[in-house]
Amino acid sequence: MEFSIKSGSPEKQRTGCLVVGVYEGRKLSPSGRDVDNACRNALSDVLRRGDLEGKVGTTLMLHNVSPLPADRVLLVGLGKEREFNETAYRGALNAAMKAIRSTGTVDACLCLTDLQVKKRDTQWKIEQAAIAVMDGAYRFDRMKSKPPEVKKTLRKVMLLVAKRNEIGEGEAAAARATAIAEGVALAKDLGNLPPNVCTPSYLGEQAQELGKQHGLRVEVLEQKEIEKLGMGSFLAVARGSRQPPRFIVMEYRGGKSDDPPVALVGKGITFDTGGISIKPSAEMDEMKFDMCGAASVFGTMKAVALMKLPMNVVGVVPATENMPGGNAVKPGDIVTSMSGQTVEILNTDAEGRLILCDALTYVERFKPAAVIDIATLTGAMVIALGHVATGVFSNTDSLANEVLRAGDVAWDRAWHMPMWDDYQEQLKSNFADFPNIGSRAGGSITAACFLSRFAKNFPWAHLDIAGTAWKSGAEKGATGRPVPLLVHFLERRAQA
Ligand code: BES
Ligand code: MN
Ligand code: ZN
Repeated sequence: MEFSIKSGSPEKQRTGCLVVGVYEGRKLSPSGRDVDNACRNALSDVLRRGDLEGKVGTTLMLHNVSPLPADRVLLVGLGKEREFNETAYRGALNAAMKAIRSTGTVDACLCLTDLQVKKRDTQWKIEQAAIAVMDGAYRFDRMKSKPPEVKKTLRKVMLLVAKRNEIGEGEAAAARATAIAEGVALAKDLGNLPPNVCTPSYLGEQAQELGKQHGLRVEVLEQKEIEKLGMGSFLAVARGSRQPPRFIVMEYRGGKSDDPPVALVGKGITFDTGGISIKPSAEMDEMKFDMCGAASVFGTMKAVALMKLPMNVVGVVPATENMPGGNAVKPGDIVTSMSGQTVEILNTDAEGRLILCDALTYVERFKPAAVIDIATLTGAMVIALGHVATGVFSNTDSLANEVLRAGDVAWDRAWHMPMWDDYQEQLKSNFADFPNIGSRAGGSITAACFLSRFAKNFPWAHLDIAGTAWKSGAEKGATGRPVPLLVHFLERRAQA
């Protein structure tokens, strides 16, 4: 996508689609009024007839509004003017993209980025708009036998700013958004691929590919090498699968050679059947998304490399299927993790923590400044926060706050969850050091408590993305979250 930033004169833009905002009560935005004046009030005439009230999410496409040079004018509802906030802004952008997608226009001019959105600055508004545009233009059709008859696709987008002196920062924001959106698209692609294609070895190959394209150092460990490292917990999960596991390490070195890196650890379960503790069949297909944590690590590594951030980042992905079978791990089995701690596996469906714990022990060798793991870890997380916020658990409050702030700026929001010692009580085993599950109560917290026992030697945050990594229903698909959060987190660290 090609972005350009413009100030003033929306009515003069020669474009396939001029996008104009309308507040509830049929009230045109300031740039909308400029357009209206230039076309002898054609827009206010339409609004007076009552075709668009201005509710968020509604749109109305007009053609050949003379004498405007634009082919189309898209009116977009903004909701109540006094309540116009970030959520309404994002809603309007997404609705606009949906309407634009169904046309054959190759370019558009968005007169939305000049609106006042609470206290957000131009950079924020441009970044959000550019990401919404690229998100809206995203398609995943590589598994269709014939490419769907897409009309022409959107290629050029002009974004309007209120003042001339905002053009520079707008351009910088659009560039950053492009890198983030590339990372998001990669994360979505990997997540959306079917589990018979996106296997652990496929992820290994994709890591090598990413390394070649962006100069990352990549190592993909196979069964034998994983055994040598003593990852008994990770390998226990892999036992039931015909697909061999992979342990993927990607290193981006943009900082000084002795700068301690940030390590990102992503859950890479390419399909989660539950194993012997098998899941019910309804919606089980969605467990192909159980590698979205891993996908977000890939996407973030790509964005960081595109942005050439002056810092060091290590991305680590333990990848395997979780399958039942004659050789599969059983409830009651006790395994020895790489840390030496023994785990009684009481439920084979609590497999994410079993592969992550060994990856957490592994990253100690990098002497990381901070470690963030990202995982579709628990159904309980979806119950707690729904599909809006990612859950954040951390052994270091200042790190948790950095993550929350990054999520707010990226509008890829997260919420701090407690991880007090009181919750650790649930993890008691009569036979091993501890079990892999607690009781049903506070399931996402006891999962985090389990991981915390492998994260004693560095500042660590755990992001449970079970509710935010993908959408179900008619819009089923990976979201690419939390790539925007992670990129913002790293960018702030690089500046510090
Ligand atoms: N991948 C699932 C978590 C999940 C389930 C995410 C549904 C999104 C939607 C994870 O491996 C899992 O199965 N967790 C169990 C843990 C339980 C056995 C303690 C769960 O949440 O039910
Ligand atoms: Mn599971
Ligand atoms: Zn899982």
